[in-house]
Amino acid sequence: MTAAPNAITAALERVDEHHYRGQDRRAVRQTTPASVIERHLPLLDPVPGLRILEIGTGSGYSTAALAELTGPQGTVVSVDVEHDLVTRADRLHREAGYTTITSLAGDGYAGAPEQAPFDRLIAWTTPPHLPKAWTEQVRPGGVIVAPLVCAPIAYSTAMARITVADDHTPGQVTLHRGQYVPMTTAALDRSRYATVSRVLDGERYPSYLSAPWIAATGDRDLAERVFTAVLDAPHTEPLGIGWPEVEHFKLWTLAQDPAGLTVAHRGKETMVGITTSDQVGLVALFPETRIVADSADSPALERVRGLYQQWKGLGGPRIDELTAHTVPVDQGWALELNATTRDTRRSRI
Ligand SMILES: C[S@@+](CC[C@H](N)C(=O)[O-])C[C@H]1O[C@@H](n2cnc3c(N)ncnc32)[C@H](O)[C@@H]1O
Repeated sequence: MTAAPNAITAALERVDEHHYRGQDRRAVRQTTPASVIERHLPLLDPVPGLRILEIGTGSGYSTAALAELTGPQGTVVSVDVEHDLVTRADRLHREAGYTTITSLAGDGYAGAPEQAPFDRLIAWTTPPHLPKAWTEQVRPGGVIVAPLVCAPIAYSTAMARITVADDHTPGQVTLHRGQYVPMTTAALDRSRYATVSRVLDGERYPSYLSAPWIAATGDRDLAERVFTAVLDAPHTEPLGIGWPEVEHFKLWTLAQDPAGLTVAHRGKETMVGITTSDQVGLVALFPETRIVADSADSPALERVRGLYQQWKGLGGPRIDELTAHTVPVDQGWALELNATTRDTRRSRI
């Protein structure tokens, strides 16, 4: 049986959002918009009778939606690292009459071993990698849906849907658009793979440079020089696409792993593209999509234009058309994007 998208929409409509999030939807600092929950829940296929483990209770809204979808014969166990949120959600669930939800306080990285096994696991917060505890606690053939880092570079998260194999290792992996806050740590973790990271005057979040090619040299002076070049890059030009298409371009670019691959955050802008010791060619993803470079005739600008044209020439491959494989790491698996095949031409963009 498969959960029809309209079953998910109907379940979300049965949950009293104000009860969990307050009249202004701001009762809890970290919540997931209902539209994003609605986009990701179909990946989990949450049908009646299932046992589901949720990592990241937050307001409790998504937990209630899961309880609606799994029905009176189902079970939802929800874990959050913030004890106060768990106490709050537990009270709200009782007030709303849900009897199949168990709320647990703790680090979701460890799952909920005493409540295992589960048919499904969904995480609304990004772990450092896919924890072994999760694949061990989901039955073979079960499904994990979680935001996972896809490359050793900042800002490379995608929503992964993973089928658990008979030996409790990750089986089939598909990728989807989506990002969630890192587990346990603060917003700064967006720069986990930063080569240089610094809070500049008047900024709320740090600007950073994430460039594996620089990190591999261990050259601090080079890192500082390129960081300054990125912060100062004066040339800009328009890009023909907006959000979310540019998010697909970003992940495709990460999968190509071109020489000089760089992710950078300056001021309010997050960018992906290419740097060299003295050139910058980056695509800004938001708040506005545009190309940023050190000069109008920069070779790095030429290369990033070339990448963009190549992506367009392939029909603008989307994240769910990319593939990835898992690599064993200590206590789990890391996800790594596969380079795309370049010969399948489509013409959507
Ligand atoms: C985006 S919010 C979840 C929102 C929730 N789905 C809702 O409907 O309101 C992410 C949650 O993950 C929690 N979190 C962060 N690190 C965690 C960890 N190590 N274990 C469990 N939960 C964690 C945060 O406290 C936060 O409540």
